Amino acid sequence: MLHRALDHRYGTMVYNRCGKSGLKLPAISLGLWHNFGSVDIFENGKTIILNAFDSGITHFDLANNYGPEPGSAEENFGKILHHNLRLYRDEMVISTKAGYYMWKGPYGDWGSKKYLIASLEQSLHRMGLSYVDIFYHHRPDPETPLEETMATLDQIVRQGKALYVGLSNYPAELAKEAAKILKNLGTPCIIHQPKYSMFERWVEGGLLDVLEEEGIGCIAFSPLAQGLLTDRYLKEIPTDSRMARNQFLKKENVSPERFEIIRKLNDFAQNRGQSLAQMAIAWLLKDKRITSVLIGASSVKQLQNNLDTLKNLNFSNDELIQIETILKNQ
Ligand SMILES: NC(=O)c1ccc[n+]([C@@H]2O[C@H](COP(=O)([O-])OP(=O)(O)OC[C@H]3O[C@@H](n4cnc5c(N)ncnc54)[C@H](OP(=O)(O)O)[C@@H]3O)[C@@H](O)[C@H]2O)c1
Repeated sequence: MLHRALDHRYGTMVYNRCGKSGLKLPAISLGLWHNFGSVDIFENGKTIILNAFDSGITHFDLANNYGPEPGSAEENFGKILHHNLRLYRDEMVISTKAGYYMWKGPYGDWGSKKYLIASLEQSLHRMGLSYVDIFYHHRPDPETPLEETMATLDQIVRQGKALYVGLSNYPAELAKEAAKILKNLGTPCIIHQPKYSMFERWVEGGLLDVLEEEGIGCIAFSPLAQGLLTDRYLKEIPTDSRMARNQFLKKENVSPERFEIIRKLNDFAQNRGQSLAQMAIAWLLKDKRITSVLIGASSVKQLQNNLDTLKNLNFSNDELIQIETILKNQ
């Protein structure tokens, strides 16, 4: 059934310009890495997406391999788009990526022209789209010449199959080099998607400076460290949680000291009148170089909790110092 979106959907969301491009993105975007695949409950995913759109989230982030099964998140998203949201395509920024393993043989992985062109064609088919808004190279390829990968991104835009291009997981120097090639080709890189959270700070060692210099926006993925920076694991490991359900977040990789830090951060957030998830998102958005924070959610309740971050984005210097002190104990 066609969805009738709420009239006041643009009332509370904040939209930030993505680098020096013409595109604005919501401060909070929704990613479909988990919870939207063929192993998940379709209706739950659909409700989350419709609720997100009604709350001003215009940006939905996918990749060829999201599922599981790989590809199924794009298929499910395509169904929801077609059946429920097709009136609103022009109010949405849809991204996809290629760069990780997707199919057998030498042409289904990394960064060759052969792989990227074929993969985007498949993604468009799965989502029932004629173009995506942003196409990313998902990770650097140590073997394919950077010039080939960047020329492919340029070609994809010229073919009209993506409006903008971005990079993901590129370290600072390589991102700079790639941005230079793209600029010379006439297709600027407008966005970079790195992992960034209170627990994952590598971008502070040079990447954010490069992005600012080059006029490239930054969308931070796994801002909640896959759920660790929330109240999800304070007491136990819930059976429906990511830690209980899949291989990407393992208990044995989380030290007792880290669980202790999470408890301290949770107390700190509560004293600010926020949930830990909200404080973790606000902590990223305090840096004006962060265009958007790319969350995941397994329920509407989580999504709404995360959206309420926008009610308090401010930190005093003293609070920031205290948070650093807690984090240093890790
Ligand atoms: N470019 C890349 O290489 C790359 C890699 C990874 C991710 N990404 C992108 O980033 C997106 C987000 O990644 P992510 O899912 O790891 O992000 P995340 O926001 O760090 O973690 C999301 C998970 O945290 C839990 N959660 C969320 N809000 C909560 C709340 N308010 N209270 C309690 N628990 C909460 C849920 O876990 P439960 O399932 O346990 O409920 C949810 O699935 C992905 O969908 C994808 O688009 C990109």
